[in-house]
Amino acid sequence: MGDATIPLIDLRHAALPARVPTEFAAPSGLLADRLGRPLRDLRISVTDRCNFRCSYCMPKEVFDSQYKFLPQSSLLSFEEISRTARLFAAHGVQKLRLTGGEPLLRKHLEVLIGMLSELRTPDGHPLDLTLTTNASLLTRKAQALKDAGLQRITISLDALDDAIFRRMNDVDFPVSDVLAGIEAAAKVGLAPIKVNMVVKQGVNDREIVPMARFFREHFGSAVVLRFIEYMDVGTTNGWAMDHVVPSAEVRLRLHEAFGLEPLDPNAVGETAERWRYTDGRGEVGFISSVTQAFCRDCNRARLSTEGRLYLCLFASRGFDLRELLRNGASDAEMAAAIGLIWSEREDRYSELRGQNAAPADSGARKVEMHYIGG
Ligand code: GTP
Ligand code: 5AD
Ligand code: SF4
Ligand code: SF4
Repeated sequence: MGDATIPLIDLRHAALPARVPTEFAAPSGLLADRLGRPLRDLRISVTDRCNFRCSYCMPKEVFDSQYKFLPQSSLLSFEEISRTARLFAAHGVQKLRLTGGEPLLRKHLEVLIGMLSELRTPDGHPLDLTLTTNASLLTRKAQALKDAGLQRITISLDALDDAIFRRMNDVDFPVSDVLAGIEAAAKVGLAPIKVNMVVKQGVNDREIVPMARFFREHFGSAVVLRFIEYMDVGTTNGWAMDHVVPSAEVRLRLHEAFGLEPLDPNAVGETAERWRYTDGRGEVGFISSVTQAFCRDCNRARLSTEGRLYLCLFASRGFDLRELLRNGASDAEMAAAIGLIWSEREDRYSELRGQNAAPADSGARKVEMHYIGG
């Protein structure tokens, strides 16, 4: 394994040991990090660009016409992405989520989806293949995405009220087009559909009950609406605790309006706590990273647009896998590097923030949401 140590030197943004332990020489499928968490979910950002300017993610003042997005040559190619994803699958990843920025802005995305849909887990199962989008281009693309092998889809929508939504996306994009995108996704069988609503105090909190009413009445169990606590991701969105509406409060409002009861989790390490309407008209989810951290079972890794591997949404450093890919690393070397990086992982930012214990590298510039995906 002498050779495998060479590219890792280039990976040492972090204190990685220079030698690769032999147990990581080949994909083991039994990888666990320092807190015993397996690697199950790989979230792949395919572009850092977006046609929206949501103030909590890409505020216009920062992401203006002067802002320098990544050049095409920096982006991982589809071949590089699918090779990396294949090695992650060998290490136990079962779910791939394409994110952005806005992933549907990446040209020919359906070609990548086709390549990823061919991948298999070590015991021969296809991976759960999904995508998070703002739905602005979905009406046009839903069929091609489905045909390419996308299984399901998650759509971000923060309000039903057109004026509030236009203000939040800050590019005057109408709600009706997003709803048409959701209809199109349902029609082509991208299921189940999830709709993610980031709740911001004083901005869209009065949309909580109308959103729930709309989706239960029009889509029933075909759409799972999930309420996300506004998080302190990145450094540009001016986050403050008093912008957060705790999930407990959202849940109470919904319970008073419709009646809710808890559901068991679908899988270990899920982001959302599941509840269903007592009258059987579908389910909702609560993603409570601020008030109830879910780091304990976090099995998610994130691959940035330019091939850096991040082990936490709040990380301030990534591991440069692109350098390995472009310097001729073999599959065994790549797999060894991934295995080693994961085995050293001890990130649990939200949990530490909840305990008011500053994470070790706090103060450093955190990665931005539009660059790493949600
Ligand atoms: P499903 O497989 O459909 O349940 O998807 P998911 O919930 O894993 O992914 P999705 O992209 O829908 O995540 C929804 C939101 O949860 C994201 O936009 C983030 O705001 C938040 N989120 C996702 N993963 C994490 C995580 O690991 N940590 C924290 N703190 N928040 C996360
Ligand atoms: N807090 C919570 N969720 C966020 N998202 C983007 N920024 C934040 C934030 N600060 C969500 C978007 C979308 C996904 C990509 O991430 O609403 O659903
Ligand atoms: Fe774009 Fe999504 Fe960020 Fe909004 S939250 S700016 S739609 S990437
Ligand atoms: Fe995972 Fe980091 Fe989110 Fe915790 S804060 S759940 S470790 S990504």
